[in-house]
Amino acid sequence: MNYPLKKGKAAQQAHVGLPEGTFEEEHGRKGFYGKSAHLYHTHPPTAWVRFEGKLRPHCLDLNKLEPADQKNPKGEPVAFMGNDDIILHVSRRTEPMPFYRRNADGDELWFVHRGKGRLESDFGPLNFEPGDYVIVPRSVTHRIVPQTKDNFFLIMESKTEFEEPEKGLLGQHALYDPAVVTTPEPQAISEDKEWEVRIKAEGEYSSLFYPFNPLDVIGWKGDLTVWKINMRDIRPIMSHRAHLPPSAHTTFVTQGAVVCSFLPRPLEKDPEAVKVPFFHRNTDYDEVIFYHAGNFFSRHNIYAGMLTLHPRGIHHGPHPQARLAQATKTETDEYAVMLDGLNPLHLTPAGEAVDWKEYWKSWLEDVKKPAPHRPAEAVKAAATAMAKPTKTAGNSKKPVGARLVPKRVEGKG
Ligand SMILES: [Fe+2]
Repeated sequence: MNYPLKKGKAAQQAHVGLPEGTFEEEHGRKGFYGKSAHLYHTHPPTAWVRFEGKLRPHCLDLNKLEPADQKNPKGEPVAFMGNDDIILHVSRRTEPMPFYRRNADGDELWFVHRGKGRLESDFGPLNFEPGDYVIVPRSVTHRIVPQTKDNFFLIMESKTEFEEPEKGLLGQHALYDPAVVTTPEPQAISEDKEWEVRIKAEGEYSSLFYPFNPLDVIGWKGDLTVWKINMRDIRPIMSHRAHLPPSAHTTFVTQGAVVCSFLPRPLEKDPEAVKVPFFHRNTDYDEVIFYHAGNFFSRHNIYAGMLTLHPRGIHHGPHPQARLAQATKTETDEYAVMLDGLNPLHLTPAGEAVDWKEYWKSWLEDVKKPAPHRPAEAVKAAATAMAKPTKTAGNSKKPVGARLVPKRVEGKG
């Protein structure tokens, strides 16, 4: 069957002119790309009163993680969630790595939540700042050299490459012009001292040692490199007449996941259009959102540095407070990173330790208690950092869009 049916009381179009007193749910496959039905409920699908069993929504306060690299320069980031495709880590590195590193297990996408510094690699140095997405392809030799002490990096590790989505009808300049992509200039480091290169393969580190600095590349060419874009340079699309699905905000695609960026934008103006994310039950994806800066419109009691995980099968949608606020709000003021995993994501013991166990109650209409943790300084710092661009001295801005073969986005949720 490939035509829509319409039964009972239903809206003419999705997300617009909902029947009086109803709560719309999009029950769809392949994220927002497959077959779908819109269900008009008489209660919010999140109005549960009790959970039994292991499946429930999670909210991790990543500010509470204590990665080994925060205090020990030889330490590692901490992994808090993952599956066979994707592993999520947090690094709070305060000191430069006294070694070089190479990940033979996967590609890495670093999101800079807080802190500034330099990523040294085979391709040359690349400065980073808050809001940067830095792509470090598999097996690139690299080293993190922070310039600040209060650093917070979210690392998304994938078995396959992170690539740009196909932009289709929107054209190549949509979301961001490829000219804002920054790539490193070669800069060989001449140094007669022993350097360790740590190589991660099959989850284990081995080390090799050189009597010189391994970053001795004086030139490079090709379509594979370290590169970055800042979230600030992404210009989200929206419709004034209909709420667009999260897939409209896709930034990267990789085999086991899709990464989207939520940025400030005006809300829909059409009086009949819904202005908050519609309810859905993540039929084919586990959905992760990392809250970077701003006020998180659709979530109550969520602050910067927190991360939610909504597993497939359980509904999620706006908190009751957000549904009420949509009558008066005219724009969003949030910066967040969403990752939808194709296969179920599981918490590690470190993730379990910072999980807000009562999060599932946060949709209850009478929820009034404050969140368990509010890093006010962190919120302010991140918001300020996003406010204006910082010159990234020493880096060239060259479009690399042509070399990144666009991949079809096979749905996301
Ligand atoms: Fe969602």
